[in-house]
Amino acid sequence: MHILSIETSCDETALSVLKASGSLKKPAFTILANEVSSQIAIHAQFGGVFPMMAKREHAKNAIPVLKKILHTARLEKKSKKETLTKAQIKKIQKILMREPELLEQFLVYIPKIKKPKIDLIAVTNGPGLEPALWVGISFAKALAIAWNIPVMPVNHMEGHIVSSIIALQKKTSEKNKRPSQRESIQPVAFPAVSLLVSGGHTEIVVAKNWMHYTIVGETVDDAAGEAFDKVARMLGLPYPGGPEISRLAKEGKENPKIILPRPMLHTQNFDFSFSGLKTAVLYLIRDLGTLDTQIKKDIAYAFQNAVVDVLLKKTMRAVTTYKAKTLLLGGGVASNSALEDAFRSAQKKDFPKLALYFPRKDLSTDNALMIGIAGYFRFLKRKTLGKTSGREGVPLASIKADGGMRLQ
Ligand code: KG4
Ligand code: ZN
Repeated sequence: MHILSIETSCDETALSVLKASGSLKKPAFTILANEVSSQIAIHAQFGGVFPMMAKREHAKNAIPVLKKILHTARLEKKSKKETLTKAQIKKIQKILMREPELLEQFLVYIPKIKKPKIDLIAVTNGPGLEPALWVGISFAKALAIAWNIPVMPVNHMEGHIVSSIIALQKKTSEKNKRPSQRESIQPVAFPAVSLLVSGGHTEIVVAKNWMHYTIVGETVDDAAGEAFDKVARMLGLPYPGGPEISRLAKEGKENPKIILPRPMLHTQNFDFSFSGLKTAVLYLIRDLGTLDTQIKKDIAYAFQNAVVDVLLKKTMRAVTTYKAKTLLLGGGVASNSALEDAFRSAQKKDFPKLALYFPRKDLSTDNALMIGIAGYFRFLKRKTLGKTSGREGVPLASIKADGGMRLQ
C-alpha cells in the first residue's frame, strides 16, 4: 500500500510517501518521496520555537511540500475538470476554518489534480506543540475528504523509536531510471529498551513488542535537547544548540576550572534531571567572567560529557534490569556523535550480545518517514484486531491533537 505521512509536531513541516508491504515481523518499505521543510532559520532569530509562529509556517508550507512529494513520487496527475464536489469543498472549508492560508492554497491545488495512488494517510497527533499538530491533523483530514482515504494517527515518539531500525539501501530502478530508495527494516529482538532524547523529551521506554510500551524513566524537568539549547544560548550560540555544542566540544578539553555535576546519576530509578546541570553552567559562566574561545569549547565539552554520562549509565542500567536484547536510540540528541561513541564502546565492552541501533543522521531529527512506518505498524495492528478492512482507518472526528500524549 502507498502511505502519505505528515509530521508537524514542532518546527519541521515534513511529508513523505512510501510503499509498505509485509507483516509486522517482516515489513518492507520503499521511499517514493521524503521532504522536510525546516523553520529553523525563522525560529533561530528568537532563540526558540514559538507555537503560533510554527503553526503559521506549517500552514504556509503544507501545500508546497505536498506538491513536491507528489511530483517526486510521480503521483501528481493534472486533471482537466475540477475534482472536488461542492459537498466536499464545504466539508474541507469547515476542517480548515482555522488555517485560512492553507485552505486557500488547498482549494487552488487539490481540485486540479487527480486523486493520487495513496491508500492511507498517517499523521502525528502528539506529543508536541498543539497549534502545530493541529495543522497537520486538519490537513490530513481535508485530504482524506478530498480523496476518500483513511487516516491513521501516530505518536511522534513511536516514530522516533522506529527511525533507528531503518537501514537504507539506494537502488536505481533500471526501468525508469528513477532513483528509488528501498528500506530494509532490521529485525528487532524483544524486549527492547529505547532511549528517546529530543528537544521536548527524555524517556527510557521498554518495548515488549511493537506497540507495547512502558515508559520506565523520564526527565523530571528539562529534556536533554532543551538543556543543550539553553546552554548554547548561554554561550552565545544560535538555535538549535545541540549541533553547535557538539561542534565546539570537538575542540574542547578537560579543564580543572570546569567541573560539572551528573544529576541523578546514582539514584536507583531511571529518571533524569538536567535543570541543575544547566544552572551549574550558568553559575560557572558567571564566575569565570569573560569567556575566551577555548574556555567556551571546554565548557561545551564538559557539559556534553556530563549529559552523555548520565544518559549512558541510566540507559544501560535499564538494559540490564529489563534483560533487553535490543537498544534503540531516537530523537535529535541521538545524532550527537560523542553520545553515539560512548554507547558503542559500552556495548562492545560490557554488552556484546546487545543489538544497538542509532538512526541515520537525517532520520534522528523530526521527519515524516518515521511517521509513515509507525503508521503502517498501527494499521497492521488495527487490521489484526478486525478494526479496519483497510478502508475506514480511524474515525476522522476522533483524531485530535494531544500535546502531552504519552506512549503506551
Ligand atoms: O527530535 P527533534 O528533531 O525534535 C523534537 O522532537 O524535539 O530534536 C531536536 C533537539 C534540539 O534540542 C537539538 O538541539 C537537539 O535535538 N540536537 C542535538 C544534536 N542535534 C540536534 N543535541 C545534541 N547534539 C546534536 N548533535
Ligand atoms: Zn522529535
